[in-house]
Amino acid sequence: MKVDLLLGLQWGDEGKGKIVDVLTKNYSTVARFQGGPNAGHTLIFENQKHVLHTIPSGIFHKGSKNIVGNGVVIDPVILKKELENLDQHHINYKESLFISRKAHLILPTHRLLDAASEATKGKLKIGSTLKGIGPTYMDKTGRNGMRVGDLELDNWKELFDNLTQKHLSMLAYFNVDLAYNLDELVAEYFDALAVLRGLKFIDSEDYLFKALKNNQTILAEGAQGSMLDIDFGTYPYVTSSNTTAAGACTGLGISPHDIGEVFGIIKAYTTRVGSGPFPTELFDDDGKTMGRVGCEFGATTGRPRRCGWLDLVALKYAVQINGATQLMMMKADVLSGFKTIKACTSYIYKGKMVDHLPYSINNEDVSPVYTEFKGWEADLTSMTSAAQLPENLLNYIKFIENFVGVKITIVSVGPDRLQTIMR
Ligand code: GDP
Ligand code: IMO
Ligand code: MG
Repeated sequence: MKVDLLLGLQWGDEGKGKIVDVLTKNYSTVARFQGGPNAGHTLIFENQKHVLHTIPSGIFHKGSKNIVGNGVVIDPVILKKELENLDQHHINYKESLFISRKAHLILPTHRLLDAASEATKGKLKIGSTLKGIGPTYMDKTGRNGMRVGDLELDNWKELFDNLTQKHLSMLAYFNVDLAYNLDELVAEYFDALAVLRGLKFIDSEDYLFKALKNNQTILAEGAQGSMLDIDFGTYPYVTSSNTTAAGACTGLGISPHDIGEVFGIIKAYTTRVGSGPFPTELFDDDGKTMGRVGCEFGATTGRPRRCGWLDLVALKYAVQINGATQLMMMKADVLSGFKTIKACTSYIYKGKMVDHLPYSINNEDVSPVYTEFKGWEADLTSMTSAAQLPENLLNYIKFIENFVGVKITIVSVGPDRLQTIMR
């Protein structure tokens, strides 16, 4: 059996959580491989809305195993809140949730460092979710980090104190005025550590290796999106992990030979939250309509998401880097009622037409060249089969498929689990 990957191909919030929830019935295991509580994955079913930050989106399915892989960074305080929500819904996660011993821990002082770093950047700030993601991955690659497995060591408290002290001296260097009470933060953190210790810690690479050998089916759930990838995204306005397909190998310990399908999740338009370039961003009524109809507010921070047309130059790039084998289009329903729909098919970059993503589009002169499509009026939200989809939407889909060379196999027409059309 192979591991199928599910990845966001834009700037995050494509609707990954919804599709993982829809597909989980086909898999025995769902595994997160990177990112941390900067992610907010929304699932809606049976009139209930759930937002997951750390826990894989398969958790609501009885019998599915859910793994937080080594590539993820965990804030026990946020994880504890997620578990409390599961408790309210009587989800037996003690049997179905497994945490990699090699996953790194976000300490309270990582969050403070994130805030200090952003404050010093001023206008150049990344627009981080301030969950401590960057500083935690810095400690990981700097070989200073603390891992879940360290909690099983006798000297875990000493490791925690040493790292905290180091962070406090770094905070002094930043010299920004952050209001915080360290004792309170540490007390809250230790409470949450007690909850984390109640979960099953595993050597997840070994677990997954054996699962594959036993013909189990595994879905790897990406967080963020390809354009936020540390190597291939719009650097430095990115997150601190590899959000692309390769990240699943390092974030789970699986071999490239074991990867099967690569599902690329895309919105029918584009959104971005935080700073950084966004060539197709709209500042007019069309952008406002997308934001309003699409309820485009961050699932983690509540910030309004920036909205714009689909960027096929960026999408083709993401499809290539990930080797996407299928695309799934989300939020097609949000575009109902637009007279004209546009998709960017090339850029004018420094005065010349280019059909690929240039090295940097941060401050450079880049403007989108659009192809236009006729819109559709029909409300899609109660449609249940591909045969019902309006012709103009099918034309739009066909154009995208031809442009990037990959089929769109699912069209999502609403946030609920059931509002999902298979093609
Ligand atoms: P993720 O981070 O990729 O899991 O996506 P988010 O959960 O952050 O954002 C996606 C938002 O769109 C959530 O509020 C979903 O409930 C919602 N959503 C997902 N699919 C659809 C869809 O097809 N139509 C509409 N209208 N909303 C959707
Ligand atoms: P999901 O998994 C959208 C953005 C932040 C910021 C940049 C860096 O829900 O799609 P960080 O907190 O990592 O230091 O922030 O990345 N960002 C996301 N945007 N969806 C996400 O996750 C994101 N996770 C981080 O807004 O611009
Ligand atoms: Mg999200």
